[in-house]
Amino acid sequence: MNKTILCIGAGYVGGPTMAVIADNCPDYKVIVVDINADRIAAWQSDKLPIYEPGLDEVVKRARGRNLFFSTDVFGGIKEADIIFVSVHTPTKTFGAGAGKAANLQYWEKTARDIVEHADRDKIVIEKSTLPVRTAEAMHRILQSNDKGLNFEVISNPEFMAEGTAVDDLQNPDRVLIGAMETSSGQKALQAIVDIYKNWVPEEKIKTTNVWSSELSKLVSNAMLAQRISSVNSISALCEKTDANIVEVSGAMGLDSRIGPKFLNASVGFGGSCFKKDILNLVYLCEFYGLPEVASYWEQVVLMNEYQERRFVQKIVDRMFNTVAGKKIALFGFAFKANTGDTRESPAIYISKLLLEEQGQLAIHDPEALDNAAIDLKDVEGDYTFEEDPYEAAKGAHAIAILTEWKHFCDLDFERLYHSMQKPAFIFDGRNILDHKRLHKIGFNVYPLGQKALSHLEK
Ligand code: UDX
Ligand code: ADP
Repeated sequence: MNKTILCIGAGYVGGPTMAVIADNCPDYKVIVVDINADRIAAWQSDKLPIYEPGLDEVVKRARGRNLFFSTDVFGGIKEADIIFVSVHTPTKTFGAGAGKAANLQYWEKTARDIVEHADRDKIVIEKSTLPVRTAEAMHRILQSNDKGLNFEVISNPEFMAEGTAVDDLQNPDRVLIGAMETSSGQKALQAIVDIYKNWVPEEKIKTTNVWSSELSKLVSNAMLAQRISSVNSISALCEKTDANIVEVSGAMGLDSRIGPKFLNASVGFGGSCFKKDILNLVYLCEFYGLPEVASYWEQVVLMNEYQERRFVQKIVDRMFNTVAGKKIALFGFAFKANTGDTRESPAIYISKLLLEEQGQLAIHDPEALDNAAIDLKDVEGDYTFEEDPYEAAKGAHAIAILTEWKHFCDLDFERLYHSMQKPAFIFDGRNILDHKRLHKIGFNVYPLGQKALSHLEK
């Protein structure tokens, strides 16, 4: 074996990233550790703890060969030459910066574990999204050791998206590696470049200073989210006029300077990164005395919340100003298709608002029902979870599409229509269905940012 790589944190980032590294670098031993024993047991089993297309095959190829999962964090620290840290960094809920700044307690605990259990020099890599200048703070904690050890801190942000993680990791647009501009920093940087060179073309491996790398990650996510909030804001205007958001996005996206991606209007963006990273950016700007810049980016999050509320308001308005006691089938709870992850999913807020209106919810999702049950466990109201979409819609007044699962398009809508109360409504919060066909079947169809196709209103 060439070197031993350790990853601390076996979550959505650590697990898939290390599986792809192990798969492509048979000369490295890769150990993934976590304090959560159930998670580690799941990584060792046939039912992985996260649903991600293509991940099972990659894990099966490498596991037991050069990929190992363990709860022995301290043993892993001792053995490793290179340590990736991918513990979670949630938004702070207390103290200074509450609601915006990142809570670094898990990261700092990890840094202290490394200091305590290392007995030789190590390279430590930030994989979690962190505020700019975290590496500096971590470097200080690590260097404070009294064993005379040297730790190099490298920033190597993850750009994979859930649902396409394996492909994003296998064929990344770029790999970004930031290091301190010292000779030992540059040597450590080369050691990380050497890992990725096993499968990523060299021109896609970008090296920068450590602060640029950290900031690039926050800003990439902020820019992507900003496109969605911009389009979502225009979807509201389209609904007041005869413009159609799909046509407007399509026309805009043809401009090669704009490009076609991330212009789909939706019920709102979710996921563990966008909101957290933008709020982190907002906090940084406030901290550095740039209130105008802070409020500019904060608006992206506020627009997202507006879009979620607007969707619920439309459901209530169109269903004769009340959903009290009416059954509504929610199709999709995951924050996007092809994942079971529901972190920051618009479905959570939308469900709560509909339950406040005393709607009766039947929630269906092919992968996310376990997480949905956890998200709603303290929420009062009338809701059930349904594995079968036809059961969810039986006797319902409305179907609301919250996630763009492809197979929703292939459902038998005649059958759904006949099992529902009349008038039957569909609110397509992802614009994925064939609206004209649904209207012909008899539904009153409310897409996003497009003219309604209703039998009730002219
Ligand atoms: C994001 C970044 O894309 C990724 O680079 C980073 O590493 C982590 O954060 P992720 O949150 O997994 O990835 O998914 P992403 O595909 O970016 O979708 C985020 C949200 O935006 C989802 O809720 C999705 O449904 C929504 N979205 C996306 C839209 O509403 N419209 C679009 O056009 C695209
Ligand atoms: P992400 O989406 O960033 O991967 P997750 O919450 O899915 O976030 O994963 C982070 C993982 O880090 C969790 O499984 C958690 O148990 C683990 N973790 C947190 N702190 C530590 C620690 N000190 N040592 C080992 N693992 C940790």
